[in-house]
Amino acid sequence: MSTFPIYRPRRLRANENLRRLVRETTLSVHDLIYPMFVVHGHNTATEISAMPGCYQYSVDLLVTAAKELAALGIPGTILFGIPEVKDPLGSEAYADDGIIQQAVRAIKDTVPDLLVMTDVCLCEYTDHGHCGIVEAGEVQNDPTLELLVKESISHARAGADVIAPSDMMDGRVGAIRAALDESGYQNVPIMAYSAKYASAFYGPFREAAESTPQFGDRRAYQMDSANAEEALREVSLDIEEGADILMVKPALAYLDVIQRVKTEFQVPVAAYNVSGEYAMIKAAAENGWVDEKRVALEVLTSIKRAGADMILTYFAKSVVEWLKN
Ligand code: PBG
Repeated sequence: MSTFPIYRPRRLRANENLRRLVRETTLSVHDLIYPMFVVHGHNTATEISAMPGCYQYSVDLLVTAAKELAALGIPGTILFGIPEVKDPLGSEAYADDGIIQQAVRAIKDTVPDLLVMTDVCLCEYTDHGHCGIVEAGEVQNDPTLELLVKESISHARAGADVIAPSDMMDGRVGAIRAALDESGYQNVPIMAYSAKYASAFYGPFREAAESTPQFGDRRAYQMDSANAEEALREVSLDIEEGADILMVKPALAYLDVIQRVKTEFQVPVAAYNVSGEYAMIKAAAENGWVDEKRVALEVLTSIKRAGADMILTYFAKSVVEWLKN
């Protein structure tokens, strides 16, 4: 490569048209998945205090919100359910009349083209708030797989387009894939939360999904934030077990992991720009300390630049408005 003064990098930064022509990464509405929370009841939308602009919707208002997403051109949503009653085995998670199952059917009836992804986990549904069956104070891996399988099949039966297990039990992708295939859902993809870290950035989500663990934490099943090689092993296992889309979560503090997954395995990569990442920008912007639009677009672009093909983000609707201007 030539050096200064032959090569002057500033030549291609002189105006917006030039900058656009040489831009390496572009964020588009097609990259975005908008997460939504659904509760029992009618005509309710309760704003989540640590996530301004995000709501717990009853099914009827969720459908209205889904219509808005489709109108904005956002390809899909991922749904999280808050049950009527929590119990030790999280029974509503796999009940055919559970809140998610109702929500999926209602959206698919009204806005059939919007992709409906469902988070498969038990923490929102269990009274102890852990992502699996608890015995002797510990989350049991293998017995939990059966419940996750039942939950996934129930979601597929309701019409879910993509099944997204987020529990971090070992072997769950393989178990879910086999069960989906056996039940006639060979064409329903799995988006696996493969490298999901035990992260403090999930704080606001736990208010939104009412899923704070009642004792202990999730470090015995979610990953240690110091580990990147382990993320590659997790991803490799999930690919072998049949995952179609591999997710890294959170996104901003794990850009290196996103990049390594994308370069070492040529697979579709999703990144989850989680609740705490959203809340930080919102809070700083409300204080007038940062420019929300510019900071959010910079962060989301960096997630794509790192190698994500798609981003789950609470900023999705705002991004569509921002990209218009
Ligand atoms: C369920 C789940 C969580 C998130 C997505 N699925 C919370 C957790 O693992 O504690 C977090 C999403 C966010 O923070 O936006 N297991």
